[in-house]
Amino acid sequence: MSKLFQATTMIGMKLANRFVRSATWEGLAADDGTCTPELKARYVELAKGGVGLIITSHTYVRRDGMGSPRQLGLSDDTFIPGLREMTDAIHRHNGRVAVELSHAGILSNPKVTGLTPVVLSKVDGYAGSEGRVMTAEDIQAMIEAFAQAARRAKEAGFDAIQIHGAHGFLINQFLSPAFNKRTDAYGGVIANRTAAVLEILAKMKSYVGNDFPILIKMNSEDLMDGGLTVDESLQAARMLQAAGIGAIELSGGTVVTGDHCRKDIDSEDQEAYWRKAAKAFKEKLTVPVILVGGIRSLPLAEKLYEEGYADYFSMSRPFIREPGLVARWAAGDRRKATCLSDNLCRGPLMAGGGIYCVVEKQQEQKG
Ligand SMILES: Cc1cc2nc3c(=O)[nH]c(=O)nc-3n(C[C@H](O)[C@H](O)[C@H](O)COP(=O)(O)O)c2cc1C
Ligand code: SF4
Repeated sequence: MSKLFQATTMIGMKLANRFVRSATWEGLAADDGTCTPELKARYVELAKGGVGLIITSHTYVRRDGMGSPRQLGLSDDTFIPGLREMTDAIHRHNGRVAVELSHAGILSNPKVTGLTPVVLSKVDGYAGSEGRVMTAEDIQAMIEAFAQAARRAKEAGFDAIQIHGAHGFLINQFLSPAFNKRTDAYGGVIANRTAAVLEILAKMKSYVGNDFPILIKMNSEDLMDGGLTVDESLQAARMLQAAGIGAIELSGGTVVTGDHCRKDIDSEDQEAYWRKAAKAFKEKLTVPVILVGGIRSLPLAEKLYEEGYADYFSMSRPFIREPGLVARWAAGDRRKATCLSDNLCRGPLMAGGGIYCVVEKQQEQKG
C-alpha cells in the first residue's frame, strides 16, 4: 500500500493518512458566524471520505477581521457549544480537525462587518485602506484576540489550530513588505515583520499548553511587486520553528491576484505549483511541511513524498467536487482528482449560496 495511506503522527496527532483538506471558506456558516447543520454535515462528509486532517474555513478571531460573508467565527465564548457539536461529529467518524484562525486586516470587508477595518499600513487599492492604522496597543490587542480564539478552539474540541499566515491576510500582511510599511518594531527587516506572529504563537501556547498542536499556513512567496520572497519566508519559518510551531503548510500568492488558486492545471508539471519552494523548506527545516496548491494526481504526490518535497499533501478544490477522494484512492481507484480547477465554484459562493461544484451540478442537470 502507498505510504501516503499509512497512519502517521503529526505533532502528537494520530492521523489516518498524509492527506489534508486545506482551509476552504464554504460560505455556509450563519450570518452571525455560528456553525450551521449544513456546514457540520460537510465536515462529516470529509471525515467519512477519509481525509487525514480537515482544516476548517478561515475563522475570524474578531468580527472586524471578517473577509467573507457567512464566515465561521470564534471571536467570543458563545461560539464554543456549536463548534463542540461539530468537532464531536467529526470525531465520531474518526476524523481530525484543525481550525484556521484568521483576521483579514486590510482585506477585511466593511460591507460585511459594518465595522472600521484595522490595517498595518495604508496601501492604495484595498477595501480596508480607509481603515485605521494600528497602534502598538492595537497590535497587542490583536495578539490577545488570536490567543483567546486558540483557547476557545481547544475548549471546543479541535485537535489543532492553524494560524492563517497566507494569501494576503493579516499575518501575511505583517510578513510582507508589500503590505507592511511600518517603521516601528513590527516593520522593517524580516525579524521585525515576524515579531507579531511569534508573539501570537507564544501567547497561544500560554493558553493552550506547549503540547497542543499549532500549525501555520504561510506564503512561500507573495508573487506581487515588493512582496515576500522565498528566502525571507524561509527565514520567518526558521524563527517560527525555533519558537515551537508544529508544522508549516506551504502556499503562495494572494487573493488579490488569485495566484494561490491557479486555474487550468492540465498536466503533472502544472500540479503542485509551490513544490520548488517546498523542497527548499524541507531541506532547511525539521518541522513537517504540508504542500498545497494544485495537487491532483496520486502518483505525483507519492513521488514528491519519496523525493523529500513534502511530508503531507493538502487539497481544497478537489474535495469540493469529491469529498470521498481519499477513500477512492485508498480503495485502489488511482485516477486523478476530477476537479477541473476552473474556479467556477466561486460563483455561487460569492453570491451567498454556499460552496458546491458547479461542473458536477451542470452534469447532473444534463442527466
Ligand atoms: C472556494 C475556496 C475557498 C478558500 N478558502 C480559503 C480559506 O478560507 N483559507 C485559506 O487559507 N485558503 C483558502 N482557499 C485556498 C485553498 O486552501 C488552497 O490553498 C488553494 O485553493 C490551492 O489548493 P487547490 O489547488 O487544492 O485548490 C480557498 C480556496 C477556494 C477554492
Ligand atoms: S467548480 Fe468543481 S470542477 Fe470547478 S474548480 Fe470548483 S470543484 Fe473543481
